[in-house]
Amino acid sequence: MSIHTQTARISVPQIMSYKGQRKIAALTAYTTPFARLLDDSLDMILVGDSTAMVGYGLPDTMSITVTQMAAHAAAVVRATRHACVMVDMPFGSYQQSASQAFGSAARMLAASGADGVKLEGGEALAPTTRFLVERGVPVLAHVGLMPQYKNTMGGFKAQGMTDAAADRIMQDALAHQQAGAFAVVLEGVAEGLARRITRSLDIPTIGIGASPDCDGQILVTEDILGLSGSRIPRFAKQFADVGAVIRQAVEQYATEVRAGAFPGMEHCFGVKKP
Ligand code: KIV
Repeated sequence: MSIHTQTARISVPQIMSYKGQRKIAALTAYTTPFARLLDDSLDMILVGDSTAMVGYGLPDTMSITVTQMAAHAAAVVRATRHACVMVDMPFGSYQQSASQAFGSAARMLAASGADGVKLEGGEALAPTTRFLVERGVPVLAHVGLMPQYKNTMGGFKAQGMTDAAADRIMQDALAHQQAGAFAVVLEGVAEGLARRITRSLDIPTIGIGASPDCDGQILVTEDILGLSGSRIPRFAKQFADVGAVIRQAVEQYATEVRAGAFPGMEHCFGVKKP
């Protein structure tokens, strides 16, 4: 049963009000069936551009488009009524200029009804955050390990391990807060740094491979359900082996089809009673 009693969807200001009051539980979803299953238990659902890797089998997140993300976001919003839904800004859809970012965000929000957007980027992207927020688009900033920067970062590597790198990430998070972001995702950063950022910000931090002291946590749903194959990141925890359940059910189906045991007469139409 859900721990939630409210019936209306959780809003962005509500997520902000959870800072210091209760932990924020978030996961990714890209499709209607998953979103439907997740909705009651979560505060926030992210339609992540990780769908490029998890859903489409691509090597990184770089090639997903606004059109694809808008369609995934619409599928998730249609299936939910409780969790706050964020949609990722795809690579190349916001870095060029603040007005390009607004156009992309407006397209995705209008097509889906999502509650806001997430964008990756340090201090340099803070003016874009401000531009969006001042025009009615809530922004969840994403700093630290930013998968869209894998080419400049030299891969998917933990960040903030030197004092200088840590100071820069702290500065990135503060700049987005100053620009009006409602929360900040801290991905793949040193634990002590995530704790310090969480204490320094007035807005919530959502950690992934960060620190238990973050104001909330997010993971990729497929990672916690055993649906990511063998590649589960160290920071994720597998809470169930849904993959094994699916494999067993599919094997049973194939066995019954081959044996002529499925379909039974109860699955057929227009069967004459003897
Ligand atoms: O795309 C994604 O799934 C993310 C996460 C923070 C999990 O950005």
